[in-house]
Amino acid sequence: MVNRQVVLAAHPRGVPTASDFRLVEAAVPTAGPGQMVVRNLYLSLEAAIRSWLDGTANYFEPIALGGAIRGPSIARVETSQLPGFKPGDLIFGLHQWEDYSVSDANTVLLRKLTPNPVLPLSLYAGALGGSGQTAYVGLHSIGGIQSGNTVLVSAAAGATGSMACQIAALEGCRVVGIVGTDEKSEVVRDELGADAAINYRTEPDLAAALTRTCPEGVNVYFDNVGGTTLDAALMAMAQGGRIVGCGMISDYNNAAKPTPLYNLWQVVERQLTLQGFLLYSYLDALPAASAALESWLAAGRLKALENITEGLSGAGGAYSAMMAGTTMGKNLVSVDEAQ
Ligand SMILES: NC(=O)c1ccc[n+]([C@@H]2O[C@H](COP(=O)([O-])OP(=O)(O)OC[C@H]3O[C@@H](n4cnc5c(N)ncnc54)[C@H](OP(=O)(O)O)[C@@H]3O)[C@@H](O)[C@H]2O)c1
Repeated sequence: MVNRQVVLAAHPRGVPTASDFRLVEAAVPTAGPGQMVVRNLYLSLEAAIRSWLDGTANYFEPIALGGAIRGPSIARVETSQLPGFKPGDLIFGLHQWEDYSVSDANTVLLRKLTPNPVLPLSLYAGALGGSGQTAYVGLHSIGGIQSGNTVLVSAAAGATGSMACQIAALEGCRVVGIVGTDEKSEVVRDELGADAAINYRTEPDLAAALTRTCPEGVNVYFDNVGGTTLDAALMAMAQGGRIVGCGMISDYNNAAKPTPLYNLWQVVERQLTLQGFLLYSYLDALPAASAALESWLAAGRLKALENITEGLSGAGGAYSAMMAGTTMGKNLVSVDEAQ
């Protein structure tokens, strides 16, 4: 038995390419006291992984050249010396892109899953996992959304954005999505409950388009993107508006030279609140978020957009496509249990 791993072959220059990743074979790990060996089933492809590929530390250690790519996954416990976990249990946690990982009580985001049998397991890495929870917690705990608010969401057809659009619409908000293709605009309007969608790639003046589309101003901007999109959104905010700093993906492929912001004065003039957050600091809010998301999904009121790549060997290519913006919804890799 071998443990196939996807490792970092080269630090990406700009958008990662499939050749920045390499599939290697290592020994299957064993569990020591307090540990368990888990079989990864679904890898959750996350924008945040990009910031660990450049060799510089942020809120996590960077991944070294030749090191296995770190990322969250749904996994099945194979052997366990960790109290409370037994073979066959399904778990979620920050593992590595590989067949078998070692997990223990210190595994970031570790939780046991009790999947709803009528829902696909993969949802627990997306709509019912970090993407849905980030959208829910960001809109409520940071954005304080209220029915009747105008809510603007960027990367609106992405994993987090597609959930933010739908949650805000379900809570009675007027929703406007910002996306990078006309096809995504259609999905955001027709399937995700948004009242309007704007393609930032074809809009000559994004600030003017946002102001036109949100004549009473944006009460809550759920920002996945940062950069020039954030700069434009600042010009469309309502007095006292709130900006939820979820992510700044437009600069992740360009971290050494981040985009300057020119409209920050609007934070003063419009008396805005701009607050960033990281989901793992809001663990207390997760039970309420998960309960709401699961009941909406089970009732068919929430749609989970998924883009699943089959096979561990496709993980690098799938990640490259996601970071190039060519995919919609939650990007996952289904790990083939060939051995
Ligand atoms: N704070 C937290 O705890 C937390 C947790 C999870 C995720 N996040 C953040 O949420 C954001 C979305 O992450 P995700 O995993 O859900 O990814 P995602 O939205 O599913 O995928 C990435 C999408 O971002 C958009 N994008 C890529 N490059 C862009 C650019 N240069 N300018 C504008 N948009 C670009 C693309 O959509 P378009 O075609 O529409 O451009 C692309 O489809 C990221 O910023 C991530 O860091 C934060």
